[in-house]
Amino acid sequence: MIFVANWKMNLSPEESKKLALAYKEAALPGRHEVIILASDLALYSVADLLKDHPAIKVYAQDISIFNGYGSYTGEVSARQVADAGGQGCLLGHMERRTHLSENDNEINLKMKNALNAGLKVILSVGVTSAELDAESQHQLMEYQLRQDLYEITAEQIAGKLTIAFESVALISSYGNLSGTELPATDIFDRINFIREWLARVYPGVAVPVIYGGSVGPENIRQFTTEAGKGCDGFLVGKKSLDLVAFKNLLEAV
Ligand code: PGA
Repeated sequence: MIFVANWKMNLSPEESKKLALAYKEAALPGRHEVIILASDLALYSVADLLKDHPAIKVYAQDISIFNGYGSYTGEVSARQVADAGGQGCLLGHMERRTHLSENDNEINLKMKNALNAGLKVILSVGVTSAELDAESQHQLMEYQLRQDLYEITAEQIAGKLTIAFESVALISSYGNLSGTELPATDIFDRINFIREWLARVYPGVAVPVIYGGSVGPENIRQFTTEAGKGCDGFLVGKKSLDLVAFKNLLEAV
């Protein structure tokens, strides 16, 4: 399975390096692929530290709508990420969609830049308001997928794209998840909806679909119980900052 460690804006460059080294030395189960989403400040040193590692990859948490190199103050481009040793990037995380009002047009530009620069992409789609019913959630995700992948061909995404389903009702940073059990039936429904959309629009192209939001050792097995309904991996925030907790997750599935 794919385990994406989303470190968000939580670590200094030095702390990122230390945690990357801990991941490297921890003998994480080799059956899983691990992707670290490092901050731009830490990306170069973390990627360098892990460059020969067989199972751990390093991606950026976002990239610019601008391409290449140039006069765009404060921006970091896909090309810069690739040149720093990053193998991919996350796009469209719910925190960016909600806190920074990032829109699907921008995400589409970033998607094109990332693929043109040879980066892999984890595209996060999902529910930006906890109020929506299932039908509205499907409509919203369909809109996001269509816009974010506008003009992107099957050839471009083959072997390059992963979709992450997330919901603000379930991500720990939004603080509104009450129990430790996750609503697995709802999550599987959304994941299957994404899979069906992908099969219609990109028939024959394998695109892993992962889940993100409050994944922990107490609920991860919910995703492996019913054959065919599970997901291909997890986007892990909080629990990825603690090596022991993260390793427990990997060992549980
Ligand atoms: P969480 O974060 O595991 O802390 O809920 C997931 C995410 O936002 O990617």
